[in-house]
Amino acid sequence: MKIISVVGARPNFMKIAPFCRAIERHNAGDGPHVEHLLVHTGQHYDHQMSQTFFDALNIPAPDIHLGVGSGTHAEQVGNTMIAFEKVVMDQKPDWVVVVGDVNATLACSVTAKKQHVKCCHIEAGLRSRDWTMPEEINRLVTDRLSDLLLTPDILSIESLLAEGIEREKIGFVGNIMIDTLEEQRTKAAALKIGDIIGGNLLYERAGLPDVEEERYVVMTLHRPSNVDYREIFTPLVGFLTGDVAADMPLLWPIHPRAKKQLQEFRLWDRVVSTPNLVLMRPIGYHDMLRLNMSARLLLTDSGGLQEECTVLGTPCLTLRWNTERPITLYEHGGASVLVGNNVERIRKEYHKALKKDRNPVRPELWDGQTAGRCLDAILNAS
Ligand code: UD1
Repeated sequence: MKIISVVGARPNFMKIAPFCRAIERHNAGDGPHVEHLLVHTGQHYDHQMSQTFFDALNIPAPDIHLGVGSGTHAEQVGNTMIAFEKVVMDQKPDWVVVVGDVNATLACSVTAKKQHVKCCHIEAGLRSRDWTMPEEINRLVTDRLSDLLLTPDILSIESLLAEGIEREKIGFVGNIMIDTLEEQRTKAAALKIGDIIGGNLLYERAGLPDVEEERYVVMTLHRPSNVDYREIFTPLVGFLTGDVAADMPLLWPIHPRAKKQLQEFRLWDRVVSTPNLVLMRPIGYHDMLRLNMSARLLLTDSGGLQEECTVLGTPCLTLRWNTERPITLYEHGGASVLVGNNVERIRKEYHKALKKDRNPVRPELWDGQTAGRCLDAILNAS
C-alpha cells in the first residue's frame, strides 16, 4: 500500500505530524508495510511559516517539494495541480491523503481523482456556509470528491449527510490537531513567556511591557475579510490600540499579509507607537501554545486557534461572522464567541469575555488518538 500525503500551508503541519507518526508506528508492527511519501506544495515557504513547524513537530523532511509559492488562487491551485499530477503519475499511489482546507487540499484532491486515485480528506465536513471564503470552496470540492471523509466531530457528519454524501464514506475520528496539542503541551508549558516575546520581536524596541500570567491578550489576524479592506481594518486597529492595549499587554504575532496591509493603510505608525502592543514575527508551535495556555483572552480569525482555545479553556473572540467549527462555540460548550468585525459588537463581547473563567472542554474523540484512527480507516477502506 502506498500513501501520498500532502501539506502546503502552516495549518496543515500540525495535522500531518501525528499522521506521519501513526504510519511509523504501524510499520514498526507486524501489519502490511505502508509506503508513505510526504509532498509539500510550497504554498507557505518562509522559514517561520513552514520549516519551523517541521523542526518543532519532528515532521520528516518532505520527500517531494513542489515549490509552488505565492500567487493568486488560480495560480496557486493551477501550478500545484500541474506539479502534483506528475508526482501522481510517477508514483502511482493507492491513496492521496489531504488535510484541512487550504489551496493545496483542493488542488491535490482534484488531481488525485482525475488520475483515478482514491482520496482521503482528514478534517472533512466543516462548513461555514460562507461561499465568499476561499477555504469553503476548498472544503466543498474536496469533500465532494473524496472516497473517505474523516470528520473531527458529530456536527460535521450531519453536514455531510445533509449534502447527500454516502454514510459509508464517512468516518468519525476526532480532531487530529489535538493529537499534536496533547503530544506537545508539556514541552510548551516549560517555556517562559518573557523568552517567547524577547525571541520573536518583529523589530528591536525599548521598554517592553510587563507580561504576567493570565494578564495579557494574544491576537492573530490574517483573513482577507479582516485585513484587506481599509474600512474594516482601520477601526479594528483603533479598538486594539485604544481599548485592548489600554487594559493590558496585547501580543500580536503578525501574518505577512496583515503586516503588508498595516503599511498599505498607513496604520503601521499607530501600531508601533502603542507601548502595550507587542508585534512579533509569526511564532512557532510551542510558543503559540504556551501563550495560549495562560492568555486572559484570545482574539483570532484562525480556525485552528478556536479549537485549541476550546481544549485549553481560553476565552476566545473569533473575529468572523461565521465559523466552520461550530463545536468550538460557547453555545456548543466551547470557548469561542463569534464577534465579526464590527467594533461595537467586539467591544461589548470583549468586556463580557474578560469576566469569563478558563474552562477547558473536550469534544468527543478530541483525545489525542485521532491519527491512529485515520490510518485504520484508510487501511480498512482499502
Ligand atoms: C493560507 C490559507 C488559510 C490559512 C492560512 C494560514 C488558503 C486559501 N488559505 O492563507 O486557510 O488560514 O494560510 O496562514 O489556502 N506569504 C509570505 N510567506 C509565506 C506565505 C505567504 O510572505 O510563507 C505572503 C505572500 O505575500 C502571500 C500572502 O502571504 O501572497 C498570502 O499567502 P497565501 O498562502 O496565499 O494565503 P494565506 O493568507 O497565508
